[in-house]
Amino acid sequence: MLATPTDRRTIEAGDPLTFFRYINGGLFEDPLRLPPLPVEFRGALLEACSFNWSVISPAVFGSMFQTVKSKEARRHGGEHYTTEANILKTIQPLFLDEYRDRLERASNDKGQLTKLHNELAELRFLDPACGCGNFLVVAYRELRAVELEILKRRRDLDMEAIAAGKKVERAQLSLDVTANVKVTLDHFFGIEIDEWPARIAETAMLLVDHLANQQMELEFGVAPDRLPITIASKIRQGNALEIDWNAVLPSSEHVIVFGNPPYAGQKERTAEQTANLRSALGDDYNGNLDFVSAWFRKASEYLTTPNSRFAFVATSSICQGQSVAPLWIPILRSGWSIVFAHRPFDWDSESANPAGVHVVIVGLARGSKCTERTLFYYAANGLGKPEARQVANINPYLLNAPNIAVRASRKPVPAHLPPLTEGNKLWDFNNLVIKPDDLDAFETDPVASKFIRSLLSNTTLLKGKPRWVLWLRDAEPADWAGSVLIEERLRLVRKERTESSDAEANGIFQGG
Ligand SMILES: C[S@@+](CC[C@H](N)C(=O)[O-])C[C@H]1O[C@@H](n2cnc3c(N)ncnc32)[C@H](O)[C@@H]1O
Repeated sequence: MLATPTDRRTIEAGDPLTFFRYINGGLFEDPLRLPPLPVEFRGALLEACSFNWSVISPAVFGSMFQTVKSKEARRHGGEHYTTEANILKTIQPLFLDEYRDRLERASNDKGQLTKLHNELAELRFLDPACGCGNFLVVAYRELRAVELEILKRRRDLDMEAIAAGKKVERAQLSLDVTANVKVTLDHFFGIEIDEWPARIAETAMLLVDHLANQQMELEFGVAPDRLPITIASKIRQGNALEIDWNAVLPSSEHVIVFGNPPYAGQKERTAEQTANLRSALGDDYNGNLDFVSAWFRKASEYLTTPNSRFAFVATSSICQGQSVAPLWIPILRSGWSIVFAHRPFDWDSESANPAGVHVVIVGLARGSKCTERTLFYYAANGLGKPEARQVANINPYLLNAPNIAVRASRKPVPAHLPPLTEGNKLWDFNNLVIKPDDLDAFETDPVASKFIRSLLSNTTLLKGKPRWVLWLRDAEPADWAGSVLIEERLRLVRKERTESSDAEANGIFQGG
Protein backbone atom coordinates (compact mmCIF):
# COMPACT_ATOMS: atom_id res chain seq x y z
CA MET A 1 0.00 0.00 0.00
CA LEU A 2 2.81 2.42 0.89
CA ALA A 3 4.32 1.84 -2.57
CA THR A 4 1.09 3.10 -4.25
CA PRO A 5 0.64 6.86 -4.87
CA THR A 6 -2.09 8.18 -2.52
CA ASP A 7 -4.44 9.11 -5.40
CA ARG A 8 -4.36 5.53 -6.71
CA ARG A 9 -4.94 3.74 -3.41
CA THR A 10 -8.15 1.84 -2.80
CA ILE A 11 -8.67 2.27 0.91
CA GLU A 12 -11.63 3.40 2.93
CA ALA A 13 -11.65 6.93 4.31
CA GLY A 14 -10.56 6.77 7.94
CA ASP A 15 -8.41 3.66 7.40
CA PRO A 16 -5.25 4.02 9.58
CA LEU A 17 -3.15 3.58 6.42
CA THR A 18 -4.40 6.93 5.06
CA PHE A 19 -1.90 8.63 7.38
CA PHE A 20 1.02 7.04 5.58
CA ARG A 21 2.52 8.83 2.63
CA TYR A 22 3.55 7.28 -0.67
CA ILE A 23 7.07 5.91 -0.51
CA ASN A 24 8.65 4.97 -3.82
CA GLY A 25 12.10 3.55 -4.43
CA GLY A 26 11.26 -0.13 -3.99
CA LEU A 27 11.42 -0.25 -0.20
CA PHE A 28 7.77 -1.29 0.19
CA GLU A 29 7.22 -2.83 -3.24
CA ASP A 30 7.37 -6.55 -2.39
CA PRO A 31 4.82 -8.03 0.00
CA LEU A 32 6.36 -9.15 3.27
CA ARG A 33 4.71 -12.39 4.33
CA LEU A 34 5.23 -12.97 8.01
CA PRO A 35 4.88 -16.46 9.49
CA PRO A 36 2.70 -16.82 12.60
CA LEU A 37 4.64 -14.99 15.29
CA PRO A 38 4.52 -15.44 19.07
CA VAL A 39 3.36 -12.77 21.46
CA GLU A 40 6.98 -12.11 22.53
CA PHE A 41 7.72 -10.98 18.97
CA ARG A 42 4.87 -8.46 19.11
CA GLY A 43 6.14 -7.21 22.48
CA ALA A 44 9.68 -6.83 21.15
CA LEU A 45 8.38 -5.00 18.08
CA LEU A 46 6.31 -2.55 20.13
CA GLU A 47 9.27 -1.93 22.41
CA ALA A 48 11.51 -1.24 19.39
CA CYS A 49 8.90 1.19 18.04
CA SER A 50 8.82 3.17 21.27
CA PHE A 51 12.60 3.69 21.17
CA ASN A 52 13.83 7.06 19.89
CA TRP A 53 15.78 5.83 16.85
CA SER A 54 16.67 9.36 15.75
CA VAL A 55 19.60 9.29 18.19
CA ILE A 56 21.09 6.22 16.47
CA SER A 57 23.50 6.66 13.56
CA PRO A 58 22.47 4.69 10.45
CA ALA A 59 26.13 3.61 10.34
CA VAL A 60 25.18 0.85 12.83
CA PHE A 61 23.61 -1.11 9.99
CA GLY A 62 27.04 -2.47 9.11
CA SER A 63 27.55 -3.69 12.64
CA MET A 64 24.09 -5.26 12.80
CA PHE A 65 24.63 -7.02 9.51
CA GLN A 66 28.01 -8.27 10.67
CA THR A 67 26.65 -9.84 13.84
CA VAL A 68 24.27 -12.07 11.89
CA LYS A 69 27.01 -13.35 9.58
CA SER A 70 29.53 -15.93 10.79
CA LYS A 71 33.18 -15.00 11.24
CA GLU A 72 34.13 -17.47 8.45
CA ALA A 73 31.61 -16.04 5.97
CA ARG A 74 32.85 -12.53 6.72
CA ARG A 75 36.51 -13.43 6.41
CA HIS A 76 35.89 -14.91 2.97
CA GLY A 77 34.30 -11.70 1.68
CA GLY A 78 36.84 -9.60 3.61
CA GLU A 79 33.95 -8.08 5.49
CA HIS A 80 34.85 -6.25 8.64
CA TYR A 81 32.58 -3.45 9.65
CA THR A 82 34.45 -0.18 10.21
CA THR A 83 33.66 1.70 13.40
CA GLU A 84 32.71 5.34 13.26
CA ALA A 85 36.00 6.24 15.00
CA ASN A 86 38.01 4.56 12.23
CA ILE A 87 35.87 6.13 9.50
CA LEU A 88 36.57 9.56 10.99
CA LYS A 89 40.31 8.75 11.14
CA THR A 90 40.06 8.27 7.37
CA ILE A 91 37.77 11.07 6.22
CA GLN A 92 38.93 13.83 8.57
CA PRO A 93 42.48 14.17 7.22
CA LEU A 94 41.28 13.26 3.71
CA PHE A 95 38.88 16.21 3.32
CA LEU A 96 36.75 17.02 6.36
CA ASP A 97 39.39 18.86 8.41
CA GLU A 98 40.11 21.07 5.39
CA TYR A 99 36.47 22.12 4.96
CA ARG A 100 35.95 22.64 8.69
CA ASP A 101 39.07 24.84 8.87
CA ARG A 102 37.88 26.85 5.89
CA LEU A 103 34.45 27.27 7.49
CA GLU A 104 36.12 28.54 10.64
CA ARG A 105 38.25 31.05 8.71
CA ALA A 106 35.32 32.21 6.55
CA SER A 107 32.83 32.58 9.37
CA ASN A 108 32.64 36.39 9.06
CA ASP A 109 32.88 36.59 5.29
CA LYS A 110 29.68 35.90 3.38
CA GLY A 111 31.47 35.76 0.03
CA GLN A 112 33.93 33.12 1.28
CA LEU A 113 31.09 31.15 2.88
CA THR A 114 29.23 31.08 -0.45
CA LYS A 115 32.40 30.05 -2.29
CA LEU A 116 32.95 27.21 0.18
CA HIS A 117 29.30 26.16 -0.12
CA ASN A 118 29.56 26.00 -3.92
CA GLU A 119 32.69 23.88 -3.64
CA LEU A 120 30.94 21.44 -1.31
CA ALA A 121 28.16 21.19 -3.89
CA GLU A 122 30.66 20.04 -6.51
CA LEU A 123 32.22 17.25 -4.47
CA ARG A 124 31.44 13.63 -5.37
CA PHE A 125 32.28 10.61 -3.22
CA LEU A 126 32.90 6.99 -4.14
CA ASP A 127 33.33 4.03 -1.80
CA PRO A 128 34.23 1.10 -4.09
CA ALA A 129 33.60 -1.60 -1.43
CA CYS A 130 30.88 0.14 0.51
CA GLY A 131 29.23 -2.73 2.41
CA CYS A 132 26.26 -1.27 4.28
CA GLY A 133 27.47 2.21 3.36
CA ASN A 134 28.80 3.42 6.66
CA PHE A 135 31.64 5.51 5.16
CA LEU A 136 29.11 7.21 2.89
CA VAL A 137 26.67 7.70 5.77
CA VAL A 138 29.24 9.33 8.05
CA ALA A 139 30.67 11.47 5.22
CA TYR A 140 27.18 12.67 4.24
CA ARG A 141 26.19 13.44 7.82
CA GLU A 142 29.40 15.42 8.44
CA LEU A 143 29.14 17.40 5.20
CA ARG A 144 25.50 18.25 5.80
CA ALA A 145 26.58 19.52 9.25
CA VAL A 146 29.23 21.76 7.63
CA GLU A 147 26.64 22.98 5.15
CA LEU A 148 24.11 23.73 7.88
CA GLU A 149 26.76 25.74 9.70
CA ILE A 150 27.42 27.72 6.48
CA LEU A 151 23.70 28.50 6.10
CA LYS A 152 23.41 29.54 9.75
CA ARG A 153 26.47 31.80 9.53
CA ARG A 154 25.14 33.46 6.38
CA ARG A 155 21.78 34.03 8.04
CA ASP A 156 23.44 35.51 11.15
CA LEU A 157 25.66 37.79 9.04
CA ASP A 158 22.56 39.00 7.12
CA MET A 159 20.70 39.69 10.34
CA GLU A 160 23.65 41.61 11.77
CA ALA A 161 23.86 43.68 8.54
CA ILE A 162 20.13 44.40 8.52
CA ALA A 163 20.27 45.40 12.20
CA ALA A 164 23.09 47.80 11.28
CA GLY A 165 20.84 49.34 8.59
CA LYS A 166 22.79 47.91 5.64
CA LYS A 167 21.19 46.76 2.39
CA VAL A 168 21.58 42.97 2.00
CA GLU A 169 21.65 41.23 -1.39
CA ARG A 170 20.12 37.72 -1.50
CA ALA A 171 19.49 37.61 2.25
CA GLN A 172 19.60 34.14 3.86
CA LEU A 173 16.46 34.94 5.85
CA SER A 174 14.06 33.53 3.32
CA LEU A 175 11.80 30.71 4.37
CA ASP A 176 12.87 28.64 1.41
CA VAL A 177 16.27 27.79 2.80
CA THR A 178 15.65 24.22 1.68
CA ALA A 179 16.45 25.28 -1.88
CA ASN A 180 19.94 26.01 -0.60
CA VAL A 181 20.69 22.42 0.32
CA LYS A 182 23.49 21.63 -2.12
CA VAL A 183 25.04 18.57 -0.49
CA THR A 184 22.68 15.88 -1.74
CA LEU A 185 22.47 12.10 -1.71
CA ASP A 186 23.04 11.78 -5.45
CA HIS A 187 26.61 12.99 -4.90
CA PHE A 188 27.41 9.77 -3.00
CA PHE A 189 28.30 6.57 -4.86
CA GLY A 190 29.14 3.05 -3.80
CA ILE A 191 30.04 -0.32 -5.29
CA GLU A 192 29.31 -3.49 -3.32
CA ILE A 193 29.54 -7.10 -4.47
CA ASP A 194 26.70 -8.45 -2.29
CA GLU A 195 23.13 -7.43 -2.90
CA TRP A 196 21.96 -7.20 0.71
CA PRO A 197 24.54 -4.75 2.03
CA ALA A 198 24.09 -2.69 -1.17
CA ARG A 199 20.36 -2.33 -0.52
CA ILE A 200 20.95 -1.59 3.17
CA ALA A 201 23.42 1.14 2.15
CA GLU A 202 20.75 2.85 0.02
CA THR A 203 18.26 2.78 2.88
CA ALA A 204 20.84 3.95 5.44
CA MET A 205 21.57 6.96 3.21
CA LEU A 206 17.86 7.87 3.10
CA LEU A 207 17.77 7.67 6.89
CA VAL A 208 20.83 9.85 7.41
CA ASP A 209 19.33 12.37 4.97
CA HIS A 210 16.17 12.39 7.05
CA LEU A 211 18.21 13.04 10.22
CA ALA A 212 20.12 15.89 8.54
CA ASN A 213 16.80 17.39 7.41
CA GLN A 214 15.48 17.21 10.96
CA GLN A 215 18.53 19.16 12.14
CA MET A 216 17.80 21.76 9.49
CA GLU A 217 14.18 22.01 10.56
CA LEU A 218 15.25 22.63 14.16
CA GLU A 219 17.39 25.54 13.00
CA PHE A 220 15.30 27.06 10.21
CA GLY A 221 11.80 25.72 10.85
CA VAL A 222 11.71 24.02 7.44
CA ALA A 223 13.43 21.11 5.79
CA PRO A 224 13.38 19.61 2.29
CA ASP A 225 10.45 17.25 1.68
CA ARG A 226 12.02 14.09 0.28
CA LEU A 227 8.86 12.11 -0.53
CA PRO A 228 8.37 10.75 -3.09
CA ILE A 229 12.07 9.99 -3.33
CA THR A 230 13.68 11.65 -6.34
CA ILE A 231 17.22 12.07 -5.04
CA ALA A 232 19.08 9.00 -3.79
CA SER A 233 22.60 7.75 -3.46
CA LYS A 234 23.82 5.44 -6.20
CA ILE A 235 24.94 2.07 -4.98
CA ARG A 236 25.97 -0.29 -7.76
CA GLN A 237 25.90 -3.97 -7.00
CA GLY A 238 28.83 -5.79 -8.59
CA ASN A 239 32.51 -6.67 -8.46
CA ALA A 240 34.49 -3.43 -8.09
CA LEU A 241 37.51 -5.06 -9.70
CA GLU A 242 35.57 -5.91 -12.84
CA ILE A 243 33.43 -2.76 -13.09
CA ASP A 244 34.77 0.39 -14.75
CA TRP A 245 34.53 2.97 -11.95
CA ASN A 246 34.07 5.67 -14.56
CA ALA A 247 30.78 4.04 -15.52
CA VAL A 248 29.62 4.46 -11.91
CA LEU A 249 31.00 7.97 -11.43
CA PRO A 250 33.09 9.74 -14.08
CA SER A 251 36.45 10.66 -12.61
CA SER A 252 37.13 14.35 -12.00
CA GLU A 253 39.09 16.52 -9.61
CA HIS A 254 35.94 16.80 -7.48
CA VAL A 255 35.81 13.05 -6.83
CA ILE A 256 37.08 11.74 -3.49
CA VAL A 257 37.48 7.97 -3.06
CA PHE A 258 37.52 6.26 0.33
CA GLY A 259 36.56 3.07 2.12
CA ASN A 260 37.71 -0.13 3.71
CA PRO A 261 38.05 -2.67 0.88
CA PRO A 262 38.28 -6.41 1.64
CA TYR A 263 41.52 -7.99 2.85
CA ALA A 264 42.57 -11.51 1.88
CA GLY A 265 46.04 -13.00 2.02
CA GLN A 266 47.48 -15.49 -0.45
CA LYS A 267 46.02 -18.53 1.35
CA GLU A 268 42.60 -16.97 1.98
CA ARG A 269 41.83 -15.78 -1.54
CA THR A 270 39.49 -17.53 -3.94
CA ALA A 271 40.74 -18.23 -7.47
CA GLU A 272 38.50 -15.40 -8.74
CA GLN A 273 39.96 -12.93 -6.24
CA THR A 274 43.50 -13.90 -7.26
CA ALA A 275 42.56 -13.41 -10.92
CA ASN A 276 41.10 -9.96 -10.08
CA LEU A 277 44.23 -8.98 -8.15
CA ARG A 278 46.47 -10.19 -10.96
CA SER A 279 44.56 -8.21 -13.55
CA ALA A 280 44.56 -5.02 -11.41
CA LEU A 281 48.32 -5.20 -10.79
CA GLY A 282 49.37 -6.40 -14.27
CA ASP A 283 53.13 -6.98 -14.50
CA ASP A 284 53.57 -5.79 -10.90
CA TYR A 285 51.51 -8.71 -9.56
CA ASN A 286 53.17 -10.60 -6.74
CA GLY A 287 51.46 -13.47 -4.90
CA ASN A 288 52.41 -11.97 -1.51
CA LEU A 289 50.25 -8.92 -2.10
CA ASP A 290 47.00 -8.76 -0.16
CA PHE A 291 43.75 -8.58 -2.14
CA VAL A 292 43.15 -5.02 -0.84
CA SER A 293 46.15 -3.85 -2.93
CA ALA A 294 43.94 -4.03 -6.03
CA TRP A 295 41.79 -1.14 -4.72
CA PHE A 296 44.82 1.10 -4.15
CA ARG A 297 46.07 0.43 -7.64
CA LYS A 298 42.63 0.88 -9.22
CA ALA A 299 41.94 4.15 -7.37
CA SER A 300 45.37 5.51 -8.39
CA GLU A 301 44.56 4.79 -12.05
CA TYR A 302 40.92 5.94 -11.89
CA LEU A 303 41.68 9.40 -10.49
CA THR A 304 43.59 10.89 -13.39
CA THR A 305 43.09 14.61 -12.80
CA PRO A 306 45.93 16.55 -11.18
CA ASN A 307 44.37 17.48 -7.84
CA SER A 308 42.95 14.18 -6.63
CA ARG A 309 42.86 12.32 -3.34
CA PHE A 310 41.86 8.97 -1.92
CA ALA A 311 42.30 6.97 1.27
CA PHE A 312 41.62 3.42 2.35
CA VAL A 313 41.80 1.41 5.53
CA ALA A 314 43.85 -1.74 4.81
CA THR A 315 45.69 -4.62 6.42
CA SER A 316 49.11 -3.49 7.66
CA SER A 317 50.86 -6.12 5.49
CA ILE A 318 50.62 -3.85 2.44
CA CYS A 319 53.22 -1.56 4.05
CA GLN A 320 55.60 -4.34 5.01
CA GLY A 321 58.17 -6.67 3.44
CA GLN A 322 57.68 -7.93 -0.08
CA SER A 323 54.43 -6.01 -0.66
CA VAL A 324 56.06 -2.60 -0.62
CA ALA A 325 57.96 -2.56 -3.91
CA PRO A 326 55.30 -4.04 -6.25
CA LEU A 327 52.39 -2.10 -4.78
CA TRP A 328 53.81 1.29 -3.91
CA ILE A 329 56.61 2.04 -6.34
CA PRO A 330 54.31 2.14 -9.44
CA ILE A 331 51.77 4.29 -7.55
CA LEU A 332 54.38 6.77 -6.31
CA ARG A 333 56.02 6.89 -9.77
CA SER A 334 52.69 7.88 -11.30
CA GLY A 335 52.72 11.11 -9.30
CA TRP A 336 50.94 10.17 -6.05
CA SER A 337 52.29 10.98 -2.58
CA ILE A 338 51.26 9.57 0.77
CA VAL A 339 49.95 12.66 2.57
CA PHE A 340 48.67 11.07 5.75
CA ALA A 341 48.85 7.66 7.31
CA HIS A 342 47.94 5.86 10.48
CA ARG A 343 50.77 3.46 11.35
CA PRO A 344 49.64 -0.09 12.25
CA PHE A 345 46.99 -0.18 14.94
CA ASP A 346 44.78 -2.78 16.50
CA TRP A 347 41.50 -3.25 14.69
CA ASP A 348 38.69 -2.88 17.15
CA SER A 349 35.53 -3.34 15.17
CA GLU A 350 33.22 -3.31 18.22
CA SER A 351 32.15 -6.77 17.10
CA ALA A 352 31.55 -9.73 19.36
CA ASN A 353 34.06 -11.61 17.12
CA PRO A 354 36.83 -9.11 16.29
CA ALA A 355 38.73 -9.77 13.07
CA GLY A 356 42.07 -10.08 14.90
CA VAL A 357 44.11 -7.97 12.48
CA HIS A 358 46.34 -4.91 12.53
CA VAL A 359 45.40 -2.23 10.06
CA VAL A 360 46.78 0.97 8.57
CA ILE A 361 45.06 3.93 6.94
CA VAL A 362 46.84 5.39 3.93
CA GLY A 363 45.77 8.67 2.32
CA LEU A 364 47.22 9.71 -1.05
CA ALA A 365 47.04 12.91 -3.02
CA ARG A 366 48.64 14.67 -5.91
CA GLY A 367 48.93 18.16 -7.30
CA SER A 368 47.70 21.00 -5.12
CA LYS A 369 46.24 18.55 -2.60
CA CYS A 370 49.78 17.55 -1.51
CA THR A 371 50.57 20.11 1.10
CA GLU A 372 51.40 18.86 4.56
CA ARG A 373 52.23 15.28 5.56
CA THR A 374 50.77 13.91 8.79
CA LEU A 375 51.82 10.62 10.30
CA PHE A 376 49.80 9.12 13.16
CA TYR A 377 51.90 7.07 15.60
CA TYR A 378 50.58 4.43 18.05
CA ALA A 379 52.07 2.70 21.08
CA ALA A 380 54.07 -0.46 20.18
CA ASN A 381 51.02 -2.70 20.77
CA GLY A 382 48.92 -0.60 18.37
CA LEU A 383 46.41 0.32 21.05
CA GLY A 384 45.25 3.67 22.40
CA LYS A 385 45.00 7.10 20.83
CA PRO A 386 47.47 8.03 18.11
CA GLU A 387 49.86 10.97 18.22
CA ALA A 388 49.80 13.13 15.05
CA ARG A 389 53.16 14.45 13.82
CA GLN A 390 53.83 16.71 10.85
CA VAL A 391 56.65 15.10 8.87
CA ALA A 392 58.73 15.85 5.78
CA ASN A 393 57.79 12.66 3.91
CA ILE A 394 55.82 9.46 4.43
CA ASN A 395 57.34 6.47 2.69
CA PRO A 396 55.47 3.23 1.88
CA TYR A 397 56.70 1.64 5.13
CA LEU A 398 54.81 4.53 6.78
CA LEU A 399 58.03 6.06 8.10
CA ASN A 400 59.26 9.63 7.95
CA ALA A 401 62.03 8.65 5.52
CA PRO A 402 62.82 8.76 1.77
CA ASN A 403 60.76 6.69 -0.67
CA ILE A 404 63.00 3.64 -0.80
CA ALA A 405 61.60 0.11 -1.22
CA VAL A 406 63.65 -2.98 -0.49
CA ARG A 407 63.23 -5.62 -3.19
CA ALA A 408 63.75 -9.34 -2.72
CA SER A 409 66.98 -10.41 -4.42
CA ARG A 410 68.63 -13.81 -4.70
CA LYS A 411 71.98 -12.31 -5.73
CA PRO A 412 74.22 -10.00 -3.65
CA VAL A 413 73.52 -6.38 -4.58
CA PRO A 414 77.28 -5.48 -4.74
CA ALA A 415 78.23 -7.78 -7.62
CA HIS A 416 81.76 -8.53 -6.30
CA LEU A 417 80.47 -10.34 -3.17
CA PRO A 418 80.01 -14.14 -3.20
CA PRO A 419 76.38 -15.38 -3.05
CA LEU A 420 74.96 -15.77 0.45
CA THR A 421 73.57 -19.29 0.63
CA GLU A 422 72.60 -19.85 4.25
CA GLY A 423 72.59 -16.55 6.08
CA ASN A 424 73.78 -16.64 9.68
CA LYS A 425 73.34 -20.27 10.64
CA LEU A 426 74.10 -21.76 14.03
CA TRP A 427 75.70 -25.17 13.36
CA ASP A 428 75.12 -26.26 16.96
CA PHE A 429 72.00 -28.39 16.41
CA ASN A 430 70.48 -26.30 19.21
CA ASN A 431 72.95 -27.64 21.77
CA LEU A 432 74.28 -24.18 22.64
CA VAL A 433 70.76 -22.83 23.10
CA ILE A 434 69.43 -22.57 26.66
CA LYS A 435 65.68 -22.93 26.98
CA PRO A 436 63.76 -21.33 29.89
CA ASP A 437 63.56 -24.66 31.76
CA ASP A 438 67.36 -25.05 31.75
CA LEU A 439 68.22 -21.45 32.58
CA ASP A 440 68.28 -21.96 36.32
CA ALA A 441 70.93 -24.70 36.12
CA PHE A 442 73.20 -22.51 33.95
CA GLU A 443 72.76 -19.43 36.12
CA THR A 444 73.71 -21.30 39.28
CA ASP A 445 76.85 -22.73 37.65
CA PRO A 446 79.56 -20.12 38.55
CA VAL A 447 81.52 -20.83 35.32
CA ALA A 448 78.66 -21.31 32.84
CA SER A 449 76.79 -18.26 34.10
CA LYS A 450 79.56 -16.00 32.67
CA PHE A 451 78.76 -17.20 29.14
CA ILE A 452 74.97 -16.77 29.05
CA ARG A 453 73.68 -14.27 26.49
CA SER A 454 70.18 -13.43 25.27
CA LEU A 455 69.36 -14.99 21.90
CA LEU A 456 67.10 -12.82 19.75
CA SER A 457 65.39 -14.68 16.95
CA ASN A 458 62.11 -14.61 15.06
CA THR A 459 60.63 -16.94 17.73
CA THR A 460 61.40 -14.35 20.40
CA LEU A 461 60.09 -11.45 18.34
CA LEU A 462 56.94 -13.07 16.97
CA LYS A 463 55.93 -15.36 19.81
CA GLY A 464 57.50 -13.51 22.75
CA LYS A 465 59.38 -16.68 23.86
CA PRO A 466 62.75 -15.78 25.43
CA ARG A 467 65.82 -17.93 24.73
CA TRP A 468 69.49 -17.78 25.70
CA VAL A 469 72.72 -19.10 24.24
CA LEU A 470 76.14 -20.15 25.52
CA TRP A 471 78.40 -17.54 23.96
CA LEU A 472 81.95 -18.93 23.84
CA ARG A 473 83.19 -16.89 20.93
CA ASP A 474 86.24 -15.20 22.49
CA ALA A 475 86.76 -17.79 25.22
CA GLU A 476 89.53 -20.45 25.45
CA PRO A 477 88.88 -23.97 26.73
CA ALA A 478 90.68 -23.03 29.97
CA ASP A 479 87.99 -20.36 30.60
CA TRP A 480 85.21 -22.93 30.95
CA ALA A 481 87.28 -25.66 32.55
CA GLY A 482 85.37 -27.33 35.37
CA SER A 483 81.88 -26.62 33.99
CA VAL A 484 80.26 -30.00 33.42
CA LEU A 485 77.25 -28.26 31.82
CA ILE A 486 79.38 -26.59 29.14
CA GLU A 487 81.51 -29.69 28.52
CA GLU A 488 78.38 -31.77 28.01
CA ARG A 489 76.82 -29.26 25.56
CA LEU A 490 80.09 -29.08 23.56
CA ARG A 491 80.28 -32.87 23.45
CA LEU A 492 76.79 -32.96 21.91
CA VAL A 493 77.71 -30.30 19.35
CA ARG A 494 80.86 -32.23 18.38
CA LYS A 495 78.94 -35.52 18.12
CA GLU A 496 76.10 -34.15 15.98
CA ARG A 497 78.37 -32.21 13.67
CA THR A 498 80.69 -35.14 13.13
CA GLU A 499 77.80 -37.49 12.47
CA SER A 500 75.93 -35.04 10.25
CA SER A 501 75.61 -35.96 6.58
CA ASP A 502 75.92 -32.25 5.75
CA ALA A 503 79.45 -31.57 4.55
CA GLU A 504 79.25 -28.01 5.73
CA ALA A 505 78.40 -29.07 9.31
CA ASN A 506 81.17 -31.61 9.76
CA GLY A 507 83.57 -29.99 7.27
CA ILE A 508 83.67 -26.66 9.06
CA PHE A 509 84.02 -28.34 12.42
CA GLN A 510 86.86 -30.56 11.29
CA GLY A 511 88.46 -27.62 9.55
CA GLY A 512 88.37 -25.39 12.57
C1 LIG B 1 35.94 -4.60 4.95
S1 LIG B 1 34.26 -4.58 4.34
C2 LIG B 1 33.89 -2.92 4.56
C3 LIG B 1 32.44 -2.61 4.40
C4 LIG B 1 32.02 -1.23 4.90
N1 LIG B 1 32.68 -0.15 4.21
C5 LIG B 1 32.31 -1.14 6.37
O1 LIG B 1 33.27 -0.51 6.75
O2 LIG B 1 31.59 -1.71 7.15
C6 LIG B 1 34.54 -4.83 2.63
C7 LIG B 1 33.29 -4.89 1.78
O3 LIG B 1 33.70 -5.14 0.45
C8 LIG B 1 32.78 -6.02 -0.16
N2 LIG B 1 33.49 -6.67 -1.27
C9 LIG B 1 34.28 -7.78 -1.26
N3 LIG B 1 34.77 -8.01 -2.48
C10 LIG B 1 34.30 -7.03 -3.30
C11 LIG B 1 34.45 -6.74 -4.67
N4 LIG B 1 35.22 -7.48 -5.46
N5 LIG B 1 33.80 -5.67 -5.18
C12 LIG B 1 33.03 -4.88 -4.37
N6 LIG B 1 32.84 -5.11 -3.07
C13 LIG B 1 33.47 -6.17 -2.53
C14 LIG B 1 32.37 -6.97 0.95
O4 LIG B 1 31.13 -7.59 0.65
C15 LIG B 1 32.31 -6.00 2.13
O5 LIG B 1 31.03 -5.43 2.24
